Amino acid sequence: MTYPRATIVERLQALVGEANVLTAPADVEPYVVDWRGRYRGAALAVVRPGSTAEVAAVVKACAEADVALVPQGGNTGMCGAATPDTSGSAIILSLARMRAVRALDPANATITVEAGVTLAVLQQAAAEAGLLFPLSLASEGSCTIGGNLSTNAGGTAVLRYGNARDLVLGIEVVLADGRVWDGLRGLRKDNTGYDLKQLFIGSEGTLGIVTAAVLKLFAAPRTRITALAATGDLARAVELLRALKQALGDRLVGFELIGDLALRLSRKHHPDSPDPLPDHPWYALIQVNDSAADAGLGALVEGALAAAVDAGIVADATIAQSQEQADRLWALRENISEAQRREGPNIKHDISLPISAIPRFVDETGAALVAAFPGARLVVFGHLGDGNLHYNVAAPDGSAAECFLDHTPEANRIVHDRVVAAGGSISAEHGIGQLKRGELAHYKSPLELELMRRVKAALDPRGLLNPGKVL
Ligand code: FAD
Ligand code: MLT
Ligand code: ZN
Repeated sequence: MTYPRATIVERLQALVGEANVLTAPADVEPYVVDWRGRYRGAALAVVRPGSTAEVAAVVKACAEADVALVPQGGNTGMCGAATPDTSGSAIILSLARMRAVRALDPANATITVEAGVTLAVLQQAAAEAGLLFPLSLASEGSCTIGGNLSTNAGGTAVLRYGNARDLVLGIEVVLADGRVWDGLRGLRKDNTGYDLKQLFIGSEGTLGIVTAAVLKLFAAPRTRITALAATGDLARAVELLRALKQALGDRLVGFELIGDLALRLSRKHHPDSPDPLPDHPWYALIQVNDSAADAGLGALVEGALAAAVDAGIVADATIAQSQEQADRLWALRENISEAQRREGPNIKHDISLPISAIPRFVDETGAALVAAFPGARLVVFGHLGDGNLHYNVAAPDGSAAECFLDHTPEANRIVHDRVVAAGGSISAEHGIGQLKRGELAHYKSPLELELMRRVKAALDPRGLLNPGKVL
């Protein structure tokens, strides 16, 4: 039985309740624009199911009506992946109402949550049980675990705990035909055929709708040390990372890079920010944690930084003396994205490289970009501990930022050619979405693209899940 497209909205209202199907332009507006304001789409409606059964019924009804679905979590993505196209024919499926913490098993160190749970709420639920869910993003107040898994999010603690896909033990997924795959197992060992969950993780809503997940929990840190170190160049920042890994091992949780322009922008748009180490070209924000209360961690970090100063690697450093000081140092780093948004449109690159290749890459690519776009400002920051740079090109001071975006294809070529030549990736953590679809087709081998298209065709033969994204 198929349903004419015209009645799909009524059908959805019957399935999830009228209040949970939004059609009024003012209600739909926040769902059809991405966080950066870079993509604006249109939708037939926004549907907000409250359970896995309702998600399954919605997906089945849309499949029967041949209506495309765009899954959406917190809408904080950076690649336009959760924004529909402009046709107005798609339905946005928001998981925002699915916010249950279904189970927490301290002995198994697992938590089972629904896809609409925000990352901050998930972290809090773990903390209340004296445990840690380590995924940490500046968007954690809004992004959802369903979105984190669908983008395989990274963040600021990957160095110690890995990406989102490394923190998942099981998922529940609604497939393109509305059937539910219940893969909610809390096992750290399970070798029973293909690891299907890993197909859906990072697929940006193009292979299935994640409705719940079983996640790993870790011992909560009882000692936390945050430090900021300034270095004269990037090679020294890489050297410092190596020295701290040696001295601190697994207790080194985060090593974030901040270029001086990124720092100045963060402070410009957040005037109450501290400026502990002015006038250095590069900074490393360092997070060191230990689950032991009396680990002597402060002395260890101090000693390692002092040794780095003596060795001429570090020009200056400061260690936060309170949680409030630590939070203010982290805000300096985590406010960069927002600062860039306020500063105006910029050409974003979210790249990863072998860490050893980063200093030369930044030197050479910077020179090539400035030669191509005189006066362009290079805003560089990121997760150096994971080889991940946010390498963003902003318009020259005083010029029209909007027009500068016209240079995106040329800038992408300059940056991505060098990334790929150095054995890197054109997308480290943000995904592909709409933004890098052309770049993916350009850089992936024909065989890789064929394999991906065959997987897509197998799981979503009619291409109704998030069309126009990734492939
Ligand atoms: P959305 O933006 O709603 O969706 C993202 C993608 O996932 C879309 O393709 C959507 O269709 C799909 N999707 C969402 N929910 C589901 C579901 N349940 N089932 C299937 N598909 C689904 N990202 C990082 O990796 N590291 C960072 O450090 C980081 N920092 C950020 C800082 C700021 C200030 C901002 C605004 C963003 C940042 N991001 C970062 C990007 C973003 O927060 C992440 O990509 C996050 O994982 C997106 O989650 P979301 O719930 O907002 O997903
Ligand atoms: C970050 O690390 O702050 C984010 O990934 C966001 C960004 O790149 O702007
Ligand atoms: Zn990032």
